[in-house]
Amino acid sequence: MEGKVMFHLCFLICFLLTGNAGVKGSSHHHHHSHRHLFGFRPSKLFVFGDSYADTGNIGKTAANSWKVPYGITFPGKPAGRFSDGRVLTDYLARFVGIKSPIPYRWRNLGPKHLRYGMNFAFGGTGVFDTLVALPNMTTQIDFLQELLSNKVYTWPDLQSSVALVSIAGNDYSAYLARGGSFQTLQSFIPLVVDQLVVDLKRLHGMGMKKVAVTALEPLGCLPQATVASSFQECNGTQNTAVTFHNLLLSQAVTKLNNETKDSSFVILDLYASFMSVLENKADHLGSSKFENPLKPCCMGLSSKYSCGSVDESGAKQYTICDDPESAFFWDTVHPTQQGWNAVYSALQGTLQQLHSLC
Ligand SMILES: *[C@@H]1O[C@H](CO)[C@@H](O)[C@H](O)[C@H]1NC(C)=O
Ligand SMILES: *[C@@H]1O[C@H](CO)[C@@H](O)[C@H](O)[C@H]1NC(C)=O
Ligand SMILES: *[C@@H]1O[C@H](CO)[C@@H](O)[C@H](O)[C@H]1NC(C)=O
Repeated sequence: MEGKVMFHLCFLICFLLTGNAGVKGSSHHHHHSHRHLFGFRPSKLFVFGDSYADTGNIGKTAANSWKVPYGITFPGKPAGRFSDGRVLTDYLARFVGIKSPIPYRWRNLGPKHLRYGMNFAFGGTGVFDTLVALPNMTTQIDFLQELLSNKVYTWPDLQSSVALVSIAGNDYSAYLARGGSFQTLQSFIPLVVDQLVVDLKRLHGMGMKKVAVTALEPLGCLPQATVASSFQECNGTQNTAVTFHNLLLSQAVTKLNNETKDSSFVILDLYASFMSVLENKADHLGSSKFENPLKPCCMGLSSKYSCGSVDESGAKQYTICDDPESAFFWDTVHPTQQGWNAVYSALQGTLQQLHSLC
């Protein structure tokens, strides 16, 4: 009975809010105050996943993200981000209005560093074990569970928090690298989505108020796939597989939201947002459009090398473009800061759902 009344009340508030947004949609200031008065205003961000979200968890010797020229735009030197600058986590923190949460690796720096939440994402990982010997998503969530057991964070903390769950495809590249065929990938996709759903449910069960999960980006448009066509054409076969993953994820999230009745789960559609930018449709706030959006800024001199590679004598074995701001992709897999900025602009509509109470 009480639940039913709450539900109606919630519905009413949402209805009023939506009505208001329609009238005053162009006023930024009003949006902001409504968010304060009625909407959910998260105070912490907890991040799980891979290199699209990692802000420095991998050890310095283990990854390219700690080599020059990674980080040249922000923070100005390599600092463990897989880009020239900010990544998805940083933009989501900006949206929430907090500082980017501290990487798990630095959790012992002191209590004041823990107030914005924590980033448990490790580049190269997936929901299952991949080719890197780093914590899979289950283990990353175990890390948070342990911090809850030790009262570093509490249930009320999570009730005012957002989780970002990034899965950018490492489960699939590991599957193919282990000899799985592209044909049998179809039957592996549901297993990945099922495990992802287990992880999403677990985060919600731990008290996380909102859980934002990425839909897979168009893998067939990453430079590693388009190099075959000199960065001219996306690989449609790969994108079809991605579409299947995203369809299953979307069905599962609809079901989860119906079961939990509080619209906790939100999909950040990296497929649609990447595509709108790549197809030059995105209006990315005044700056010029990306010249050849499929071509990465930084790449190895040959297939033997990658961005950041040096030979035995320390001579660099990669090329870098003049202006990273003119490129969407930084290396063969990851967007530049400017690329993420454009994706962030394209995601604005969806991100508003993180403030909804119902
Ligand atoms: C994640 O890693 C842990 C520790 O290595 C392992 O026991 C577990 O089976 C893995 N989980 C999945 C879903 O792959
Ligand atoms: C597209 O990707 C598939 C799977 O990786 C591969 O078999 C195929 O050769 C690629 N097509 C092109 C045109 O590169
Ligand atoms: C939502 O769940 C209810 C049962 O709780 C069910 O009757 C209904 O069909 C579900 N709706 C959708 C769209 O899955």
